[in-house]
Amino acid sequence: MRQKIHRILVTGGAGFIGSNFIHYYLKKYKNCQIINLDKLTYAGNLANLKTILKDPRHTFIKGNICDRKKVKQAMRGADIVVHFAAETHVDKSIKGPAEFIKTNVIGTQVLLEMALENKIQRFHHISTDEVFGALELNKQQKFSEKTSYDPRSPYSASKASSDHLVRAYFHTYGLPITISNCSNNYGPFQFPEKIIPLFILNALKNKPLPIYGDGKSVRDYIFVEDHCRAIDIILQKGKIGETYCIGAGAEKNGINIADTILDILKKPKKLKQFVTDRLGHDRKYAVNYSKIKKELGWTPKVGFEEGIKKTIKWYSAIFYQKHL
Ligand SMILES: NC(=O)c1ccc[n+]([C@@H]2O[C@H](COP(=O)([O-])OP(=O)(O)OC[C@H]3O[C@@H](n4cnc5c(N)ncnc54)[C@H](O)[C@@H]3O)[C@@H](O)[C@H]2O)c1
Repeated sequence: MRQKIHRILVTGGAGFIGSNFIHYYLKKYKNCQIINLDKLTYAGNLANLKTILKDPRHTFIKGNICDRKKVKQAMRGADIVVHFAAETHVDKSIKGPAEFIKTNVIGTQVLLEMALENKIQRFHHISTDEVFGALELNKQQKFSEKTSYDPRSPYSASKASSDHLVRAYFHTYGLPITISNCSNNYGPFQFPEKIIPLFILNALKNKPLPIYGDGKSVRDYIFVEDHCRAIDIILQKGKIGETYCIGAGAEKNGINIADTILDILKKPKKLKQFVTDRLGHDRKYAVNYSKIKKELGWTPKVGFEEGIKKTIKWYSAIFYQKHL
């Protein structure tokens, strides 16, 4: 299959995971062409693509995935679509859900319609473990492909809707799709509204690290490069119509994250500050990734300690460039 891949449309490729995926892909495959369609919201940043903006294998198109004309233009000649573009911050979705419905639901439907029209060979939809709802603390449960959907925030509800639409296009129209539901990513290029880059940058500035509620809500953290490798393997070997859950088994709470970052940066623990909890804050996410491991041979390679050190190193370099 790899030989046939010439042109990939990546949506949201100026964001965190999308830009990491493009870097990963261009480094690994010499013969690909990537079209990157991104609206450049506050979360999209061309600086994430600085080193490849002149690479002839990468074309950037500024545009909204809800805009049929733009999507049509960007998808022309593409074999594969890898769909990252989304509104992604849960707190923002609580304050204003409308934009999440527009981009995550309607935008996805526009892409699906165009993918069908363009006879796309594979539409890979990037989704989240948040669609499954919340697990109880202190129980050894994990989400898997068999878990029922139970989204509880406007963000996760919009992602769940998009997953259902993607599956509907497979069952109804035969569009060749795959879906992945991944746990919380961290690594370079993440916008510092999310916990890990926010805590690193605040610690570097000697500012408080705001920990939600009692700080005991758990997420399963995965280094972004491991996620990119999983997507690549699904594109190569994934079965059409299937969903794959991706995680790394690094279950950490807010206090663990703050302590790890403060220890590595040798900053005082008094920078930890407990703040009002997020509305409807899901208590725990954890992912059973045995299907992708067994069927496609993927496992995470970067442990949390290693990944967090790499991430701190990357943000520290940016921080000191700006502040020296
Ligand atoms: N970050 C995580 O931990 C995580 C975990 C699992 C799944 N996901 C999913 O992965 C995908 C990427 O997440 P991320 O963390 O990189 O997000 P991000 O917020 O960093 O980037 C999103 C990108 O999408 C672009 N975008 C937003 N609306 C758009 C629109 N209407 N048209 C075109 N482009 C638009 C933004 O400009 C930005 O570049 C999302 O679908 C998200 O739901 C993220």
